[in-house]
Amino acid sequence: MNELKQFISYEKMSKYVADIIEDIFKKSFRMTFPKLVLPTGSTPLGLYDELVKRELDWSNITTFNLDEYVINPNHLQSYHNFMRMNLFDKTNIYPKNYNFPNRNTQAYEDKIKEKGGIDLCILGIGTNGHIAFNEPQTPRNSKTHVVDLTKNTIKDNSRFFDSVDEVPTQAITMGIDTIMKAKRIYLVAQGSHKKEILERAVHGEITPEVPASFLQEHPNCEVFYSD
Ligand code: PGA
Repeated sequence: MNELKQFISYEKMSKYVADIIEDIFKKSFRMTFPKLVLPTGSTPLGLYDELVKRELDWSNITTFNLDEYVINPNHLQSYHNFMRMNLFDKTNIYPKNYNFPNRNTQAYEDKIKEKGGIDLCILGIGTNGHIAFNEPQTPRNSKTHVVDLTKNTIKDNSRFFDSVDEVPTQAITMGIDTIMKAKRIYLVAQGSHKKEILERAVHGEITPEVPASFLQEHPNCEVFYSD
């Protein structure tokens, strides 16, 4: 079951999640080095700044990103580039240890399994209730797959591009089942425009109309919010 924890500021929320990650890094050793799932978007920027400031040791960390556009990975707005600019290039993580989904969706699932599964998954939520690019109506049993982005998501994400026409129309995303298999999940959301959908996700009916509502069935999931 997930709880909704409200923070008095975005900064406090970012630090709180950074504390959790720092704690996991410090407690890990040898065979249990953490496997993390990481998001992109506006919300995790404060967290990534905080993690960079702490100069943690990422040399044994493996990460899997939640999703990526169908786009050249070197494009300025690719999630590869986002992660390199905001986190990876500012840490000592090895490029061979960060992973992004591509059209070979089964290989992504296999790699996660081969690494022993996900210890911690950090998620954002879209205003339509999507998690990663699992748009409304995505089935609960979905694995990593290629998606056509909805008009709503293309419009929301156009703020990162010069115009709405430049936003890719397809992406590759971890499925809901892939996410639900993580041992711990923290969903992080900022802004009053997310409040209504968060309430539905946490306290409303569990339905594919609100993909984040499936998280209610996860035994170890918490939801963090700040205005
Ligand atoms: P954000 O959205 O960019 O507001 O963090 C995250 C998402 O849409 O999943």
